[in-house]
Amino acid sequence: MIMKLDQVIFSLFKSKFGKDPIMVIAPGRINLIGEHTDYNEGFVMPAAVDKHIFFLVAPNQTDRFNFISMNYNTSLSFTTSELQAGGEWQHYLMGVIDGIQKRGHSVGGVDCIFGGNVPGGAGMSSSAALCSGFGFALNEIFDFKLTRLDLAKIGQYAEHYFVGLMCGIMDQYASLFGKKDEAFILDCRSLRHEYLPFHFPDIEILLVDTKVKHTLATSAYNARRSSCEEGVAWLQKSNPDIRSLRDTSVSDIEAMRSHVSEDVFTKCGFVVKEIARTQQAALLLKAEDLKGFGKLMFETHWALSNEYEVSCVESDLLVEVASQYPNEVFGARQMGGGFGGCIITLVRKDAVEQFSHKVREKYVGTFKKEPDFYSINLCEGVHSIHHD
Ligand code: GLA
Repeated sequence: MIMKLDQVIFSLFKSKFGKDPIMVIAPGRINLIGEHTDYNEGFVMPAAVDKHIFFLVAPNQTDRFNFISMNYNTSLSFTTSELQAGGEWQHYLMGVIDGIQKRGHSVGGVDCIFGGNVPGGAGMSSSAALCSGFGFALNEIFDFKLTRLDLAKIGQYAEHYFVGLMCGIMDQYASLFGKKDEAFILDCRSLRHEYLPFHFPDIEILLVDTKVKHTLATSAYNARRSSCEEGVAWLQKSNPDIRSLRDTSVSDIEAMRSHVSEDVFTKCGFVVKEIARTQQAALLLKAEDLKGFGKLMFETHWALSNEYEVSCVESDLLVEVASQYPNEVFGARQMGGGFGGCIITLVRKDAVEQFSHKVREKYVGTFKKEPDFYSINLCEGVHSIHHD
């Protein structure tokens, strides 16, 4: 779709700004397993997907940043003296500019048209695609020589200090380091990754969007992170070598049970087990044991729901329905920060239609609203496209 739109958007840019832009494509991401482990220095298993945000960008030799958002049908203009925090798309972009400046670079003004098809609030990291893609474009234009890892950290900085979500690094990293037909396991402590081929020609990665968007998701996410930090602080009193939940075991968590709140105990326990599940899942994927892999996905879901308490009735229902098709569906679980968004399912290709039909029927019957379905492919991370 993006290739077909290519010409149209280029001409639009040219007629609007009178010059040729560069074009950058930034994908959203899925996460196969490893949820809420990134900010605990654990493991995650994401992949970049073929839902993108595109950017057309050219320097304008002024100090102004002029944006046209195709999706929101709005335009906006600001200078570096007007950067501020908030919850709208421009605040993410302002955070990226500030993050680059904080690294000692001076960012000149640009004209930019952007848009895309990563659904917002669906747990597919449209915001990370926004930050990673824009940062990448600025880096190309001004030759700051920032690495992909620098850009991931800058995107995370924008989320933390301009939007207020104290996220880990998974989303930005996935958008920047994705590879066609591969997922990867990322060690969020060393920030090194290993690609894991996901070549199952008979399997479809089908996302079902609950279309539930929790208004308090940011504060609930930050509260989970604080619970983890509280657990670590308690454990550090007897063992100063513990830096994060990555350094702890189920028995360490058991030992603190009567000393911390039920909430801290349960949340920390979830993370320790989820880190182990993710490592186990990587072994199963390498062995092409999709049944075993999918079983862990289901386990993760119910732990997200009952222990980490970031699910919702809509996601639970979808996963419940998926588990009623053991021969067709290998695994299913809610994906991303939580409180709605998409569930990710691994479904036999020849059963996708029948399964989707059943899911829709049950979902509409229960909640009187339609879910959305996205069949996705794993694709290359942020990159620029040259236009002749
Ligand atoms: C959001 C955050 C990520 C990660 C997930 C949960 O997507 O941005 O850093 O913590 O939630 O796994």
